[in-house]
Amino acid sequence: MSADRQQLPREQWGTDTGFILATIGSAVGIGNIWRFSYVAGENGGGAFLIVYGLSVLLVGLPIVIGELALGRRGAADAVVAFAKDAPRSAWRYAGWVSVLGCVLILSFYAVVAGWALKYFLGAVSGALWQAAGAGYGGYFREFIADPVAPLFWQCVMLALTVFVVAGGVRAGIEVANRVLMPLLAFCVIVLAIYSATLPGSAKGWQFLLSPDWDSILTGQVVVAAIGQAFFSLGIGMAVFITYAGYLAPETRIPRAAVAIAAGDTLFALIAGLAIFPAVFAFGMNPAAGPELAFITLPQIFLAMPYGHIFGIAFFGLLSAAALTSMMSLLEVPVASVLHRSRITRRRAAILMGVAAFVLGIPSALSFGVLSDVRISGDGVFDFINRAVSNYLLPLGGILVCLYVGWFLRRADAVSAAGLSGGVTGVIWYWLVRLVAPVMVFLVILDTVGEL
Ligand code: PFF
Repeated sequence: MSADRQQLPREQWGTDTGFILATIGSAVGIGNIWRFSYVAGENGGGAFLIVYGLSVLLVGLPIVIGELALGRRGAADAVVAFAKDAPRSAWRYAGWVSVLGCVLILSFYAVVAGWALKYFLGAVSGALWQAAGAGYGGYFREFIADPVAPLFWQCVMLALTVFVVAGGVRAGIEVANRVLMPLLAFCVIVLAIYSATLPGSAKGWQFLLSPDWDSILTGQVVVAAIGQAFFSLGIGMAVFITYAGYLAPETRIPRAAVAIAAGDTLFALIAGLAIFPAVFAFGMNPAAGPELAFITLPQIFLAMPYGHIFGIAFFGLLSAAALTSMMSLLEVPVASVLHRSRITRRRAAILMGVAAFVLGIPSALSFGVLSDVRISGDGVFDFINRAVSNYLLPLGGILVCLYVGWFLRRADAVSAAGLSGGVTGVIWYWLVRLVAPVMVFLVILDTVGEL
């Protein structure tokens, strides 16, 4: 990479609010609606919620601050941010892990996003409501096993993402988030309020909000909570490093980080309050797993008053939330390509979008044509979904902790985070230096089966 490229005028966010909405847009995604609801459902509801909150506070938030600090310091892409203090050291590979990781996540994430879009348009046109037949189990499984349809929808979502990212940081990503994020917040709140009016909905609130103390500190719940915190916040893949590279120097990082962590957690909670009361009101199983959003919920929408409208809002929400996360996942590799070549942003976005599509083909087909392909017992999609949150994101997170907490001088790290001279800075530093990496390391060990 030549020095002159680094000096090209940098793009910048138009406003701080635009930046914060874009980062919350990256965090709020399928993870908050589809993944949070089934992981919470499988891990005891309220018990999970408490452990999850602690994971966000002690592990997630310190890493978000670390990523934002690294990004603003680097004022470039993920690779430069890690290589800034020692350009020839192995640290520059840390950036590349994130760049490649983002393309991999995007590849399977776009598959679920595509399912959501298909359901959304089906709910709008009415096709989804006529298709039920013997229930949505058959409908969903037939759809995801089709050799063409999942690829088509995955491609449409990726094309939309490429379109936005090609428009640039301010005119593309920021504008899209400014429109979509308030809409998402409004939608999820209205859904939760409506859900609360259903007879029998109190059981759903109870399930999500009253902890079952016995299951609280099992290894399984802790592992699931930390994995979910990584996925839901979207840390460990240099998204915040890249987005903070476009920040004005005066933006206050800790405030932005708190807004991201609080916004993401609140959104997941409200989405849970939209989903579980409805699930209980209709006597469905809250621990149905990944099928909850695509099989259980449409069945409920079909039966409940104003269910079609609820369905349109729900799948619209899911698709739009996915889109704002996909933008950040695409921006990480695009920023890196732009930084070291002369191609245009538009070309870089198309190139990376195509890469994600091709890489995602096995995931999209893993419930049909490629269902016989198994990696350590899982289909391709399930394997990547699990490997990303259990290994790849935690590994990326540990790298951030090691870089910020051990490689940088303490004074530099604390000042980059905008936390110099206060007790908060000391607390953050020790969380990012010790608590977060140790917790994450234990989670990785537990997942590998060594604990
Ligand atoms: N946080 C997103 C979600 O909850 O759906 C997913 C995600 C975005 C994961 C960005 C990883 C990432 F780097």
